[in-house]
Amino acid sequence: MRVDAGIIGGSGFYEFFELENKEEKAIETPFGTVNVILGTLKEKKIAFVSRHGKGHKLPPHRVNYRANAFVFFKLGARYVIATNAVGSLRKDIPPGSLVIPDQVIDFTKSRVYTFFDGDFEIVFPDGRKKCGVVHTDVTEPYCNNLRKKILKAAEQIGIKVHDGGTYVCTEGPRFETPAEIRFFAMIGGDLVGMTGVPEVFLFKELEICYATICIVTNYAAGLQDRVSHEEVLKLFDRVRPKVIELIKKTIELL
Ligand code: HPA
Repeated sequence: MRVDAGIIGGSGFYEFFELENKEEKAIETPFGTVNVILGTLKEKKIAFVSRHGKGHKLPPHRVNYRANAFVFFKLGARYVIATNAVGSLRKDIPPGSLVIPDQVIDFTKSRVYTFFDGDFEIVFPDGRKKCGVVHTDVTEPYCNNLRKKILKAAEQIGIKVHDGGTYVCTEGPRFETPAEIRFFAMIGGDLVGMTGVPEVFLFKELEICYATICIVTNYAAGLQDRVSHEEVLKLFDRVRPKVIELIKKTIELL
């Protein structure tokens, strides 16, 4: 079974109702089983994975990032589009905005960051193999080719998105302190979230073209009164139709 593209749904995005010929499958990987929704969109074969699982059961530090990424490798996906709910560190990027980040700063602490931590071997479709100590270049953490496709799709359907931005990933599951947010802004962060890492780096190791649509659900701690998960989910619901349209158009352009 092969797919053309994959989608990873973040907070608030647990189902892809718009997929046609839908079929749910539990797919095995060397890192665990992943529940995948397979279907079609504009005649393209698509696989959808909910990052936190149905009903948002997994907190950010317990997501099985390796299994989630590897399932797309197994399915032969060349492109994976993710969504991440984020807080904004910038007053000029208010809640409701969509941002296609181009850089990452990692402040996570306890995750499995790589496929190459033992003797696991990856065999790429062209026959190349990677195993052992592998140092991956992440000069371009997100695939620019896919970023540009998302930007073009947004332009074509008349949706405003921000081109570029630095995503700061925290360990969670708590939100940040205002002092942490001031520090992140000082070192160049624009957005803060809990799930961008190690996902982005694992796709880099798998050589899959990966980019994300960040949905600004709130101003980060200290820039607004308080931050709550309910607020994050509520805002995502509000922008969901826009995000779905953007994903659909992007897939059409692949
Ligand atoms: N901080 C961390 N993660 C988040 C936030 C935030 O403010 N909003 C949505 N996800």
